[in-house]
Amino acid sequence: MTETVVIGGGVIGLSIAWRAAARGHRVTLYDPDPGRGASWLAGGMLAPVTEAWPGEEEVLSLGEESLRRWPSFARDLAAEGVDPGLSEHGTLVVALDSADAAHLDILAGFLRSLGRAVEQVSGREARRAEPGVAGSVRSGLLVPGDLAVDNRKLLHSLRRACHGVRFVHETVTDLAEIRADAVVLAAGAWTGRLHPLLAGAVRPLKGEILRLRPRRGCLPPPKRTLRAVVEGRPIYLVPRANGELVLGATQYEAGFDETVTAKGVRELLEGAERVLPGLAEYELVEMAAGLRAGSVDALPFVGELEDGVFAATGHHRNGLLLAPVTADAVVAWLDGEPASEEILPASPGRLLKKERV
Ligand code: GLY
Repeated sequence: MTETVVIGGGVIGLSIAWRAAARGHRVTLYDPDPGRGASWLAGGMLAPVTEAWPGEEEVLSLGEESLRRWPSFARDLAAEGVDPGLSEHGTLVVALDSADAAHLDILAGFLRSLGRAVEQVSGREARRAEPGVAGSVRSGLLVPGDLAVDNRKLLHSLRRACHGVRFVHETVTDLAEIRADAVVLAAGAWTGRLHPLLAGAVRPLKGEILRLRPRRGCLPPPKRTLRAVVEGRPIYLVPRANGELVLGATQYEAGFDETVTAKGVRELLEGAERVLPGLAEYELVEMAAGLRAGSVDALPFVGELEDGVFAATGHHRNGLLLAPVTADAVVAWLDGEPASEEILPASPGRLLKKERV
């Protein structure tokens, strides 16, 4: 049993704290406002396939490994009292013009080359699957295995499951102040400030995201997650069981700026209305901006940085997806056991290799 400190109370930090405490470790979690930050704003996609892109094969494999762990992760959490709201309706990616269709063809070709089953559908078939989809949609890709989770229920569920974890509502700025057998750095976009190896390797990647709700008489939201690339900008629409629709997300570098811009909101709404025209009549219930923990190569940093200090950060666009595989790896190391092979490409050791080159 170790005395473990987790720095950061987003989905990654909470998942590690929960699993570590359940294994008998004495856990203290530092965060001024646990359960908020980027995890609170996330769309909740668990989507390794539709986030995949040529050149990022290791990201895909790691994501698929974590997705395999999601059903039991969700069941274990539900058994602790609060169901985290895993949705198994799958994902539909649609193309609106020839450039989008070409983008989708590249994605489908890439996935097929890796032996992944993908179903390319016509515009008509896409509308049959999701009747609210625009008449102008030309083609689509049905990906039943890419799931979603209600991020806010998940965070509530994780807090409930953290039995015995001591929460300290403070920001840690200096690791020298921490006394523990093991320290886990899981402070998202801010983690780069905690350790010299991560400085510059983990950076804030701003995203604006909206929440909408159908008003009386509106077309209902889609059942599946809908995704598209509209004029080069990726968007997603993720339905929640309570009827809300999460519309995300912009992505750009703006340091630690968390303001919502008119341009960001306009781009999201314009893009989404082209995919789902009925959305124009929905109530806009929330606009927010958060900071993803961007990494240099879209892979996270999960592993030992120095004796007893572990990184669990840089999850880029995939924090919720990668929570189970990350937590399992860190807890294995705390137990003195090897982690699963799939996590190895995420080793922070690759930063040292780059430094030597
Ligand atoms: N996971 C999608 C995003 O980061 O916007």
